[in-house]
Amino acid sequence: MKVLVIMGSLRKKNTYQTVKKIENILSDNCEFEYVFLKDENFKNCIGCHLCISHGEDNCPLKDDRDLIIEKIEESDGVILASPNYVMNVSWIMKNYIDRFAYTLHRPKFFNQNYMILITSGSNVGSKKALKSLSVITSGGEITSKLRVFFTPGMRPKKVELQEKRIEKMAYKFSKSLSNKKEHKPTFSYLIWFSIFKGMSYKNKNEVIADYEYYKDKDYFTEVELNIFQRQVVGFLSNLVRIVS
Ligand SMILES: Cc1cc2nc3c(=O)[nH]c(=O)nc-3n(C[C@H](O)[C@H](O)[C@H](O)COP(=O)(O)O)c2cc1C
Repeated sequence: MKVLVIMGSLRKKNTYQTVKKIENILSDNCEFEYVFLKDENFKNCIGCHLCISHGEDNCPLKDDRDLIIEKIEESDGVILASPNYVMNVSWIMKNYIDRFAYTLHRPKFFNQNYMILITSGSNVGSKKALKSLSVITSGGEITSKLRVFFTPGMRPKKVELQEKRIEKMAYKFSKSLSNKKEHKPTFSYLIWFSIFKGMSYKNKNEVIADYEYYKDKDYFTEVELNIFQRQVVGFLSNLVRIVS
């Protein structure tokens, strides 16, 4: 099983050490590869909107974004890892989120399962940081969520419980990779699809890439929708088209 780690820490300390622990726990059946965002040729988003409106191939930043995409596509699972910086992800991970903002419009990583991981000095803002990571899995299912605390003077009992939780979440993630299920069009995915499909017709002259992506699609993937699911998509996407 191939696991890709997208590392949003600027140093090789708490977040890196936590992922290393997970790698050691899963070393029997998972092969880990690391993308250290700080070391990659991965430039800062300049906010031009072209990836969203005209398609990701029109991004003016010439760097290794597409290599990261290839690595994600070749993996079975992805770990998105970041420290909590002032109740959010690190700036370098936020840049990753912004560079992949177009995948909120046009998701593409349905074959990957995700673990999202935040390390934090305390409880303050760690849930919010984890939530920021949860939006950028681009169709992939989050099968494991983990917050790990590096609080000075933490009681040994708490440290022990935390170690157990790391182990539990690591195994949960690995199990989800071994028994990977085909993507299911759950209600929340149907709503996501319908809203963007509806808007893509409405904004077809401004957000051309969305229109091209949605115009011939009944759903994000090739999966057959049942009658009820088709009706939900038909009704909601038309509603969005009319009222938005
Ligand atoms: C700029 C900065 C902001 C931080 N903000 C928070 C915070 O809001 N809440 C918190 O509990 N810890 C905060 N921390 C502590 C880090 O989240 C924590 O030490 C983390 O494990 C560091 O991971 P790293 O060793 O991979 O850099 C902050 C640390 C830094 C450097």
